[in-house]
Amino acid sequence: MRAETMRQRGACIWFTGLSGAGKSTLANALDLALHAAGRKTYLLDGDNVRHGLCRDLGMGEADRTENIRRAGEVARLMVDAGLIVLCAFISPYRSDRQCLRELFEPGRFVEVHVATPLAFCEQRDPKGLYGKARQGLIRDFTGIDSPYEPPLAPDLMIDTSVEPLDISIRRLLERCA
Ligand code: ADX
Repeated sequence: MRAETMRQRGACIWFTGLSGAGKSTLANALDLALHAAGRKTYLLDGDNVRHGLCRDLGMGEADRTENIRRAGEVARLMVDAGLIVLCAFISPYRSDRQCLRELFEPGRFVEVHVATPLAFCEQRDPKGLYGKARQGLIRDFTGIDSPYEPPLAPDLMIDTSVEPLDISIRRLLERCA
């Protein structure tokens, strides 16, 4: 009934990757492209969610797991309501992402590995955080002194250091159609 009213089936497009890999840029651009195509969407971004729903959580392993669990549960409700939910979170642990997949019906969870190499993310350093992490001013920084476990079988892989944004968006749209 909801899918009929919304004229679409809900889905969760989950972007995982290092800080500075381009997750938010891709999610925002895909959001605009889907909107232009008349799709109803919502965007959940770690940078925002951590100011509200997850503001009590830090960057240690247990807190990151809880951050992803909460974001996944919110996304699940929104998908149930018929939205296409775009989620941009480092989500560094494979087991957490496996739990996410199990929240959704088959085919309704699309794992996108934003596989931009660390050296490139670090060179970009859009928020100056890698610099601070290298100086020891920030601890547990993903890719520096905290692990990132790359997906073994992502639905889509995007390296923003080599692929232009418009090509990535075209590939993403094919997966969300
Ligand atoms: S996650 O690991 O729990 O998925 P999330 O995506 O919500 O992380 O938040 C990542 C954002 O927090 C980064 O883009 C960065 O701006 C900020 N940040 C602050 N401290 C750290 C840290 N130690 N490691 C990684 N990102 C950090």
